[in-house]
Amino acid sequence: MTDIGFDGRVAIVTGAGNGLGRDYALELARRGARVVVNDLGGSGSGQGASHSAADLVVQQIRDEGGEAVASHDSVSTRAGGESIVQTALDAFGKVDICINNAGFLRNNRFEDLSDGEIDAIIDVHLKGAFYVAQPAYRAMRRNGYGRFLFTGSASAMFGHAWQANYAAAKGGLMGLSHVVAIEGSAYGITSNLLMPTAQSRLADEMNDGFMEIPAFAQAVAGADYAASADRVTVPFNTPLAVYLVSERCTATHGIYSANSGRYARVRICAADGWVAPMGPTPPSVEDIAAHFDRIGDMSHYHEPMTVYDEFTAVAQAARRQQVI
Ligand code: NAI
Repeated sequence: MTDIGFDGRVAIVTGAGNGLGRDYALELARRGARVVVNDLGGSGSGQGASHSAADLVVQQIRDEGGEAVASHDSVSTRAGGESIVQTALDAFGKVDICINNAGFLRNNRFEDLSDGEIDAIIDVHLKGAFYVAQPAYRAMRRNGYGRFLFTGSASAMFGHAWQANYAAAKGGLMGLSHVVAIEGSAYGITSNLLMPTAQSRLADEMNDGFMEIPAFAQAVAGADYAASADRVTVPFNTPLAVYLVSERCTATHGIYSANSGRYARVRICAADGWVAPMGPTPPSVEDIAAHFDRIGDMSHYHEPMTVYDEFTAVAQAARRQQVI
């Protein structure tokens, strides 16, 4: 069944010269999208640059009968982001889809991370997403239609040793996507975050230094990979990514995980918790200690979609606990 088409749609995919982005770009083009294939062409640790990564993918799309143009700009600068979006506007006249995917790794112990390792990772993943998404958003807003997909990571949402820089940047993208989803709802623009999982060239950057952390080494060694054989691959991520940027998908403000052929929404939830007695007197530190189990009890929880939803959830918890 190929009824999810992209005829007439213009897509930007950053970091589309390799790995996940390349596969997204190829699949979008096969389904009729005109694609800006952006890639700086550096190494898995973000060193160097080359035109060939993006050019080869553009050539493959054209060989298959699709339409694509290359962009060799870095997402890590404002000028680069503007230029990537301008490439779409010059070649195809608009932007409908923006997949922010470019990135690399520079892993190290938390206490040893240098400014170079922190800044480069924040620049490419977090600031790079702003630099591309802001001009793309302005173009989408003019047309009253848009689909954003930001690339998060399980490292940020769940945790991974030796990746504090990367997890901080990827975690920031969650907040960015949520706010783009809220503001974009006024203009036909959706925004979601995908947490992909794939053996890519980034695996080469994963030296096993993180195994020096005992609890983490235990988690790595003790994980059950029974559902993962031959499925931790790039193509297993592409169907969800492409669906999330399709016209058919109107879901927004979501976080989705693709892992070993399992596709799932990820939620940020708050427990019902413990509601202190009504009145203007705050509880004591000892009150918190006495109720700490209840504060952490996730048997009742809610998922606020805005800051204000949480006030409503608190009132509901207070009623359930007969505090009001
Ligand atoms: P990859 O290394 O195969 O592809 C990333 C591409 O981004 C490369 O072609 C690279 O040249 C390009 N790039 C790097 N810096 C750039 C810049 N400043 N401007 C433009 N392009 C740039 O890696 P992979 O695995 O396909 O990763 C894609 C995205 O998915 C990344 O954001 C990564 O952090 C994320 N991710 C990957 C996971 C995995 O399991 N492979 C897990 C979670 C997230």
